[in-house]
Amino acid sequence: MKSIENIENIENKSVILRLDLNVPIKNGKITDSNRIDKIMPTLEFLLKKKAKIIIISHVGRPKGKVVKELSLELVSLYIKGKIKKEVSLLKENIFNLNKEDIFKNSNDELVLLENIRFYPEEEANDDKFSKKLASLGEIYVNDAFSCSHRDHASVSKITKYIPSYSGIQINAELNALNKITSEIKKPITCIIGGSKISSKINIIKNLIPKFNSIIIVGAMANNILKYKGLNIGNSVYEKNIDYIIQEIFSYAKKNKCKIYFPKDVKIGKKLNDKSFEKDFKDIENDDMILDVGSKTLVEIKRIIDDSSTILWNGPLGYFENENFSLGSSEIAKYIVNRGNKIFSVVGGGDTVALINSLNIKNKFNFVSTAGGAFLEYLEGKVLPGIKALN
Ligand code: 3PG
Repeated sequence: MKSIENIENIENKSVILRLDLNVPIKNGKITDSNRIDKIMPTLEFLLKKKAKIIIISHVGRPKGKVVKELSLELVSLYIKGKIKKEVSLLKENIFNLNKEDIFKNSNDELVLLENIRFYPEEEANDDKFSKKLASLGEIYVNDAFSCSHRDHASVSKITKYIPSYSGIQINAELNALNKITSEIKKPITCIIGGSKISSKINIIKNLIPKFNSIIIVGAMANNILKYKGLNIGNSVYEKNIDYIIQEIFSYAKKNKCKIYFPKDVKIGKKLNDKSFEKDFKDIENDDMILDVGSKTLVEIKRIIDDSSTILWNGPLGYFENENFSLGSSEIAKYIVNRGNKIFSVVGGGDTVALINSLNIKNKFNFVSTAGGAFLEYLEGKVLPGIKALN
């Protein structure tokens, strides 16, 4: 992979910089800026070299349509505040943009294109769209490890049409993850939570042969609970995936990997409710499972005690409401309190936001900005965005 540090004569060149600025936004505010803060060294490097920067990013999953709430407006204002320079958000349709239009004002150094997923061609990895994107600059840099598992136009196909390099942050993530995966100590436990159910449940299957224990929590666990015949009331779950769960359990048995899921839970009638701890037999039809219960926490702590390495992706409950954040925060604190008895790696936007809010981010051995990409990397998959750079 050619790295950003090796680009020659970069001064005044237009650099298309693919970032993952997919940050959580609530009530018109960025609630966790970690992903933006992490790429500041790349921006500073390019600005110091007097390059012209065109940032491409997505936010959320607008499915090829313009969704006002998923604009990059707030992100552009945040970057402007950080670098103390003019930053423009270009809202024009990319198909109508030409290279010459982008830095019309010669003092401009940094522009953002509006959410790239407003275009269906992005996720379709469309060839014409990739070519159009490439035509807007002279050099392409991918510094978005956390979306490099997506075979999308601005992540992979674009590299066909323009000299392409890896960025500072992607290099750091890959170096750290390479080191971790080659030096990993058993027993290894993976805690997988969060709500991106179908995307992760297949990953679990691929992780089974590598890990000793997998603890499934968060909304994802509801599928297992339902499969086991337990009452999950009005909780979110995904239909028609029983066959995947069946496969997970038989594959885990074959590979001597233990799968754990909640023994008890905390419920609410709605997301902003207070929490009530319940055993499954007491769950009512309008109850939503929003956190793990105390017996589950005891079990997870015991598994952590017996592990040498912990890999964690995805919160244990609906931590956005503090009444359901106890499971996640207890486990986060428990891991860091194990000190050097355990090697701890955390990934995923929500999980990082959580440990950030507890002020313990620096106490983990490694914190990845990536969620899905982090898990797919652990599976041993070659990520399309990385493959394209090679
Ligand atoms: C993430 O948050 O993991 C990345 O931004 C990728 O998002 P996606 O799962 O919507 O592709």
